[in-house]
Amino acid sequence: PSQLKEIPLICSIDVGTTSTRAILFTRGGDEITKHQIEYSTSAQQGSKRNSPAIFSNEGVAVNLNDSSIELEEVSNSPTLSFPKPGWVECNPGHILANVLICLAAIVTNLEIINSEEPLDNTPKTHIYKIVSIGLANMRETVIVWSKKTGRPLYNGVVWNDTRTLETVNQLLAETPEEVKEDLKKRTGCPISTYFSAFKWGWLYDNVPAIKASYDSGDKDLMFGTVDTWLIYNLTREKSFVTDMSNASRTYLMNLETRDYDDVLLNFSNIDKSKINLPKIVPSSYHFGSFSFPDIQKLGFASSHVDQDQLVLLKRQFEGVPITGCLGDQSSSLVGQMAFRRGDAKCTYGTGAFLLYNTGSEKLISEHGAVTTVGYWFDHLDPKVDGEHCYQPQFCLEGSIAVAGSCIQWLRDNLKLIDKASDIGPLAATAKNSGGVVFVPAFSGLFAPYWDSKTTGTIFGLTQYSTAAHIARAAIEGVCFQVRAILQAMISDAGQSSDFLDIDDDNSCPIGGGLLRTLHVDGGMSKSGTVMQIQADFLGHCVTVARSPNAECTAFGAAIASGIHPDVGVYESLKDVEKAVSESESYKRGAASFYATMKNKERKRALKLWQRAIERAMHWLE
Ligand code: G3P
Repeated sequence: PSQLKEIPLICSIDVGTTSTRAILFTRGGDEITKHQIEYSTSAQQGSKRNSPAIFSNEGVAVNLNDSSIELEEVSNSPTLSFPKPGWVECNPGHILANVLICLAAIVTNLEIINSEEPLDNTPKTHIYKIVSIGLANMRETVIVWSKKTGRPLYNGVVWNDTRTLETVNQLLAETPEEVKEDLKKRTGCPISTYFSAFKWGWLYDNVPAIKASYDSGDKDLMFGTVDTWLIYNLTREKSFVTDMSNASRTYLMNLETRDYDDVLLNFSNIDKSKINLPKIVPSSYHFGSFSFPDIQKLGFASSHVDQDQLVLLKRQFEGVPITGCLGDQSSSLVGQMAFRRGDAKCTYGTGAFLLYNTGSEKLISEHGAVTTVGYWFDHLDPKVDGEHCYQPQFCLEGSIAVAGSCIQWLRDNLKLIDKASDIGPLAATAKNSGGVVFVPAFSGLFAPYWDSKTTGTIFGLTQYSTAAHIARAAIEGVCFQVRAILQAMISDAGQSSDFLDIDDDNSCPIGGGLLRTLHVDGGMSKSGTVMQIQADFLGHCVTVARSPNAECTAFGAAIASGIHPDVGVYESLKDVEKAVSESESYKRGAASFYATMKNKERKRALKLWQRAIERAMHWLE
């Protein structure tokens, strides 16, 4: 009935490395409904049915007509594969199909929610309406497709894939220091297998279809990260764009000009006249209007889409504007509302990603952090949200390769726990780690150490050591690294590095732009024991604050979308904060953790950690 009030909802799509989800958020960040798909991996590949033969094993594109798979089946077939040691690939078609399945599921749920009568028999007052879409995505992963056919020419090469290690090592050895420094100033990033540009060289050298097309100069190749691939396929306009936070991870964009840089393109052997590069745009932008893609053309049999869901999908989503897009780590910074200089967030997922907001200033780290774009909302009003708010907001970023995956290792390989959430209770049974120090460097060490040779190492085992000591040491290994990164970042930002060691009896410096709170989210942050250890290692001047919103990453993209003037769910960043402070999840309350460990004890623990790190880095020499 027309008198029912329409409450606007923002749909957020969050495409991570191991799962995809879609969530409908209210303006305050309350979840109305969500659907998530965990990817199957190549370990589960086997039957032809579950293994769409889009590509041959040699990495050569083969007949794409053989690739039709049923859309419903996609969630059960491999999306992530590990074809060789160090190789990590994703199937772009599956990524797209997973998004559609999630959207179909949430519109079905919404239809039910909208038709329900209130439980308390009061008259129905409102229905929900989806007004816009935001996207958060894993970054750096490269997808190359054909403009003519719309089909990928190879699987996506995922951010943590290290197949280019040799080339990268050679580049590191051959590139003069002053050139490296210049490149770092332009990109904010070091030369590393991590960033998109280094994956391009491999694709050109090893995928004949890509090489042939590039060399022919037909300009059929489309180069993109996951955001570009999805927006291209989900918009009526076939928008070929990337937001600045994603572009800042390609090693192709100059942070100063906000555009592709000829020096960088040259360094990565990319000739703009031979390949299409997406336009770099703000994170809150009219990316296009949603349109259901021609999945048959992409190799999926549309006859297998549930027709009722398809009708619903089209009714609820067709034409809805996509107005937000952020790389997932930037997105959780926004979802945590870490909008001010000095705000920091850490997401504890498979790895851990720490972002430290430096405002409109681009700081180039001297301590191994990467300079990255937090977000760019170019229409914000400086009278409301502060000077320079409409400019790109930069961050220092530090990544830890292994966080939640260490807990999985304790569960799956050592069988120390049954489920990941048991780690906190097990660790809590020990007062301390009993002298055990665990460096969980299963894939080398990222920031601030950057050493790919280091392997996981456990020190200090005695007959006295128990499972609880090892569990605690594993958690401490992650929390020590978070502290090391934070320490590096605050030094880069000009804040005294002994800030984290200020004695309990001394007061903490105050002032704008200083780190005071580490906002946390992600799997490991759910454990109070883990967060208490983190707070203990950061000292009494830093509060560890767990967001009441369990889906900060997805919520960030919703904010980017809702703040766009065409959508107008939020008027400003201040308005976002107001909306969240009035939400149901906020009322349930955030949790804060404060250091209770004595300074002397912390110093002792840190000394042991430092020694362990040095030994772990050099034990093979
Ligand atoms: O840089 C990689 C990052 O974007 C991946 O994030 O959440 O998929 O682990 P996630």
